[in-house]
Amino acid sequence: MDLNNDERQTLIKQAVEIRKRAYVPYSNYPVGAAVRTKSGKVFTGVNIENAAYPQTMCAERVAIFKAVSEGESEFDVIAVVTNNGGSPCGGCRQVMAEFGLDTVVLIADGDGNLHKELTVADLLPEAFTPKHLQ
Ligand code: THU
Repeated sequence: MDLNNDERQTLIKQAVEIRKRAYVPYSNYPVGAAVRTKSGKVFTGVNIENAAYPQTMCAERVAIFKAVSEGESEFDVIAVVTNNGGSPCGGCRQVMAEFGLDTVVLIADGDGNLHKELTVADLLPEAFTPKHLQ
């Protein structure tokens, strides 16, 4: 899909802003995500950690799960913001892949600088997807 710079910057800014709400007492590594649906709605998410560490949930999944739970599961782009342009984890790549390999992923830092723009297919080659269960 073709994104213009305004669209990129708008979504990244939403991820930068929501990132302030990250609950990260253990890692001190806040992550913000903003996913845009094909219908034009944006859902945001942050990472939410837990004293029982494995119960932590990543920002991307919070954003995607919020969208799906509101009836929206077709995405065209997701922005992910960290301190240093960190890449989405494997679990989040798998969750993104569930809803489309063509979704564009914008990886940016806390100042809003875009580090990488690629697709879910780039991030997760040979993905296991719903079609494998048909
Ligand atoms: N984290 C995310 O929110 N998304 C990712 O894709 C990578 C990791 C979070 C989980 C944890 O709260 C912190 O970053 C450090 O791993």
